Amino acid sequence: MKTEAAPFRLEDYRAPAFTIDTVALDFQLDPPATRVTATLSIRANTEEARKGRLELIGDEIVLKGLKLDGVAVPASHYIATPSLLTLTDVPKGPFTLEIETIVDPAANTKLMGLYRTSGTYCTQCEAEGFRRITYFLDRPDVLAVYTTRLEAEKSDAPILLANGNPVESGDIPGTDRHFAIWHDPFPKPSYLFAMVAGDLGVITDRFTTMSGRDVELRIYCEHGKEARCTYAMDALKRSMKWDEDVFGLEYDLDIFVIVAVSDFNMGAMENKGLNVFNDKYVLADPDAATDADYANVEGVIAHEYFHNWTGNRITCRDWFQLCLKEGLTVFRDQEFSSDMRSRAVKRIADVRTLQARQFPEDGGPLAHPVRPEIYHEISNFYTPTVYEKGAEVVRMLKSILGPDDFRKGMDLYVKRHDGDAATIEDFLASFADATGVDLSQFKLWYSQAGTPQIVARGAYDEAAKSYKLTLTQSLAATPGQSQKRPMHMPIRFGLIGPNGDDMDYASVSGGRVDRDIIHLTEASQTLVFEGVGGRPVPSLLRGFSAPVRLAIDISASDLLFQARTDTDPFNRWQAVQTLAMRNLVAGTAEQIAGRAPKVEPALIDALGGVLDNDTLEPAFRAQVLQLPSEADIARELGQDVDPEAIAAARTALRLAISTGLGDRLERHYARLSGETDFHPDATSAGRRALRNTLLDLRLARRSPDAIAAALTHFEAATNMTDRLAALATITQAALPERRAVLDAFHDRYANDALVLDKWLTLEATVPAPDTLDRVKALLKHPSYSPNNPNRVRALVGSFAGANQTQFNRADGAGYDFLADFALDLDKRNPQTTARLLVSFRSWRALEPVRRARAEAALRRIAAAKDLSPDTLDIVTRTLA
Ligand code: PHE
Ligand code: ZN
Repeated sequence: MKTEAAPFRLEDYRAPAFTIDTVALDFQLDPPATRVTATLSIRANTEEARKGRLELIGDEIVLKGLKLDGVAVPASHYIATPSLLTLTDVPKGPFTLEIETIVDPAANTKLMGLYRTSGTYCTQCEAEGFRRITYFLDRPDVLAVYTTRLEAEKSDAPILLANGNPVESGDIPGTDRHFAIWHDPFPKPSYLFAMVAGDLGVITDRFTTMSGRDVELRIYCEHGKEARCTYAMDALKRSMKWDEDVFGLEYDLDIFVIVAVSDFNMGAMENKGLNVFNDKYVLADPDAATDADYANVEGVIAHEYFHNWTGNRITCRDWFQLCLKEGLTVFRDQEFSSDMRSRAVKRIADVRTLQARQFPEDGGPLAHPVRPEIYHEISNFYTPTVYEKGAEVVRMLKSILGPDDFRKGMDLYVKRHDGDAATIEDFLASFADATGVDLSQFKLWYSQAGTPQIVARGAYDEAAKSYKLTLTQSLAATPGQSQKRPMHMPIRFGLIGPNGDDMDYASVSGGRVDRDIIHLTEASQTLVFEGVGGRPVPSLLRGFSAPVRLAIDISASDLLFQARTDTDPFNRWQAVQTLAMRNLVAGTAEQIAGRAPKVEPALIDALGGVLDNDTLEPAFRAQVLQLPSEADIARELGQDVDPEAIAAARTALRLAISTGLGDRLERHYARLSGETDFHPDATSAGRRALRNTLLDLRLARRSPDAIAAALTHFEAATNMTDRLAALATITQAALPERRAVLDAFHDRYANDALVLDKWLTLEATVPAPDTLDRVKALLKHPSYSPNNPNRVRALVGSFAGANQTQFNRADGAGYDFLADFALDLDKRNPQTTARLLVSFRSWRALEPVRRARAEAALRRIAAAKDLSPDTLDIVTRTLA
């Protein structure tokens, strides 16, 4: 087994010894041998630097030439390895270093640095990809002004793009080559550098900023896909306007460019003025994209655009501060989508994602603080904790301060730190200084890992008309953190009275309560509300005001009451989910004991009440009708997880609900039918979501008429949302009819890679024993491609991450398959491999047989020779 290199620690941060003020890059583009000349103006930053030793970082670099102030550096004055260039004798004053390197974009399967995707040259530099292009001070606190010159064969790359504004372009006389020069006046770290060159289609538009500046907007894509970029363009313009309206932040260059590429390790990248996107987050049309895809395009376009301020104009001092830009920017894109769509439905969807992705991370071996303090491989820290929990922390800050003071803090942060590489301390100080609020306890949210648990107990004293609420917080140990301190948690709440309205109270003691927020700051607090007219049903954690688990002793009938009356739509949804989860947990135990499952009648009543309530928006009703997933149930159980028992309990409950709601499912389905025009807006999407949810619930009965309805729904669909929903319903039910429908779907979209990803995912998530063999067979299918991350994630990622029963087969074959697959992929694309292996993160919570098999598979990976640092890091921490 390979041992790891020394880790990086936050406490070891030192300012850079040298700094680089300007960078001039020249790219002579050629697929196997691109020549890069980097001219850097460098100056010493510390006394230590004046001793003359300069170290620049590289990664698989081939050095071709080195000049200092125009003179070739003698061999005795430098040492170059592929990962480090050391100059031993640089001047005390400012100097210019010219570095010539050769890179091979065609052979770059890691998709970091300069690579080719469908014949297009593109770069990905976050976090540490720039060092694969040239030797550099590749760290986010070195900010330079970049000028980029690109030269390529005209026929190979008619389009030449880089950060900033276009300066000059033209032909190279006497050759079939041409060039373009771009200049970015805003100092930036190397991770925000980008260039793209290729033969691409484009759509263009314009935006006038609030101060009246005219900005050209362009979206590039593969030829023939231009029409699919219009929704992304619309989302971009709405994002630009929203950031002006809500945060007063205006775009700063003359041009904003987005490029959609088909090979990309992540979702998208906020390079200054030149965002590069995974094409799945740009392309959308009704025949190929679902409502969920449209919402994702809108959200990711906004996210990357918002980084222009929170990330680019203000960047991170070091990678430990990643949440400074990511948590804040996720919060901003969530707010944007809430304003564009239904706030309540968006919140439910975001909390579902948080609980599905971040809670298991926080509860397992990969747990880390929102701001980590140690890492081996930074690319493994682009996690749900940094992103999604990071956004929750910003949301809590807003709840604690209130919207006006939150905006004051944001304004001060931007004013103070524009042009800086900042820290979480800088961020919090801006809010504390703008408002006078002490945030020192709140800061623990950035350093303490794990999901806090809150236990709530309430008691009403009829005679005294007082209500006593005890809240106790606790936080379990996580890797490297055994002792935790109480945190400052905003608990949004209401006391629901007998008529369903929130009740007033005369006074409260035992803690600070601002309007509808309890500030929980102690390990345990008892709040006494005086003058409460009747026994309240407590509605706690409204809008999921803190990322915690709440345990509350509340009866089924109170939950039913809350589902009917709570003025907070999130908690109405939560009440039904809680009822369902109790049933599912009990049902799983009954499956294991071989007893017949019982169904809580209050649950059917709650679901029926919401279904029939036409004052509630359809998208909300659809969310309520969707039960917790198998993974949610596994997380709730937390130990000795038997995925087969969970799946059986869930199937049994779905059948009971389907039968219990009876022909109301058909009736509501019919009422929602007949819409043929497709509009991607949230209201139309909500109607489709409800109709598709009803179809799915009806099929839980597996009756011939329900099967026929699902097949008809598939045949009659006039858009991808409905077509895919029918297909998912049929495949999730593992009906024998699935084969023909899946094949028909494949053939219809045989030339559309993004749709084929949906097909691969459905194939991989069928809950049937033959799925693993099918997945293995699909690895050889012509529609699959072993080096494209989207294909890999669609097939193998979905199998391991979203097929609970089949990945966790009792014979361990699912784990062995993932281990074999990962060992092979690791040689070509370590980042994508490491991400796939995160599917093992909850292995310790499995029942003993599966646990042993998962551990054996992990140990086999760990024992392999030549693992990438990415994979070694994930496997080591998962096993620790
Ligand atoms: N910074 C990107 C984002 O969240 C994500 C990303 C990280 C992309 C690393 C590529 C590589 O917007
Ligand atoms: Zn981001």
